[in-house]
Amino acid sequence: MWPSSRYLTRDLLRQVEWEHARVIVEYGPGVGTITGEILRRLRDDGVLVIIERNAEFVDFLQRNFDDPRVRVFHGSAADVASMLQTLAIDYADYIISGIPYSTMPPSLRENILRESHKVLRPGGAFLVYQFTSAVVPALRRVFGDVRQQFVLRNILPARIFSCSR
Ligand SMILES: C[S@@+](CC[C@H](N)C(=O)[O-])C[C@H]1O[C@@H](n2cnc3c(N)ncnc32)[C@H](O)[C@@H]1O
Repeated sequence: MWPSSRYLTRDLLRQVEWEHARVIVEYGPGVGTITGEILRRLRDDGVLVIIERNAEFVDFLQRNFDDPRVRVFHGSAADVASMLQTLAIDYADYIISGIPYSTMPPSLRENILRESHKVLRPGGAFLVYQFTSAVVPALRRVFGDVRQQFVLRNILPARIFSCSR
């Protein structure tokens, strides 16, 4: 796993309207390279819900992001709806997703995308960064239109896909 470059992070987070973003969900933060940048921009009354499957990363994130706006969940992005429910949050304004859709079983991918669509506020956005375009057909099935951007200045050139609800 390589951390995202500052160019990828900048281009990704440029797509967020920070003054209107109250609830942000991040899937697969790893060691929190993008998490830290989200927190630098997030408003004081905002909430950042982090979902990470790897227990060691969860432990690291909990120790390193001691911020009242952060809620860390150890589990799968497929369970985003029930996690938000435990926080009494109805909708997310943005979901920022760094999990590898091309290597997971198609049924899990479909489930995560459908659950993500369900919890996004109408007008909200699903922002995905990946090393391949393999996820695009599945994104189109669930979200319709998909905007794409290519970021060369990353250890592996990356793609950003953005979908509106
Ligand atoms: C490529 S790393 C992302 C690294 C980090 N976001 C960055 O930009 O530096 C992918 C992360 O997604 C996590 N992950 C994979 N599948 C997941 C899932 N279904 N739900 C939550 N996290 C997942 C992995 O444990 C890993 O930490």
